[in-house]
Amino acid sequence: MAPNPTSRLDHHTLERYETIWLGIATVMSVLLAIAVFASFLSGTTPRLEDEGGAHHLTGVVNGRIDPKNFAGTPFATPGVVEREDGSVDVFVVSKAFQFEPPVVRVPAGKRVNFYVTSADVLHGYYVETTNINATVVPGQVAAFSTTFRHPGTVNVICDEYCGIGHHNMLNKIIVEAPKP
Ligand code: CUA
Repeated sequence: MAPNPTSRLDHHTLERYETIWLGIATVMSVLLAIAVFASFLSGTTPRLEDEGGAHHLTGVVNGRIDPKNFAGTPFATPGVVEREDGSVDVFVVSKAFQFEPPVVRVPAGKRVNFYVTSADVLHGYYVETTNINATVVPGQVAAFSTTFRHPGTVNVICDEYCGIGHHNMLNKIIVEAPKP
């Protein structure tokens, strides 16, 4: 019996579908490989380690600052304070439209504890290349920690609209190689 032309056509159609699905499976495998690689890479960038509290800070009660007692808190002298174990505390005051201090120097490979507050309105503290993104509320302390593994410069932007100078509100974190 001669081969049924219809079934031959079906055979070819099936082959074509098989090729298409094989192509789709290949594309999906490649996307999966990219996703795995991307997550591997993101694992090497600084991550939020701890949303610690600020209860141990002088003049801070339940994460809140009494505005009348601002001078009695570490935020009266914003900046970097090195601790005995080599980790650092960073005190930042946000105000329209700048961060105090504008440049922060921290050591690579050491834990960095951030304490950020606002002197006026709502601001944001988004540390580029990390998943750190804090909302800075006046009268409250945003506390979080991370470790920058590699020396370099990391930019911080205010990502809560705070007024006419919002887009100029930047902070720079300079990560320095550990002292020999
Ligand atoms: Cu501060 Cu936007």
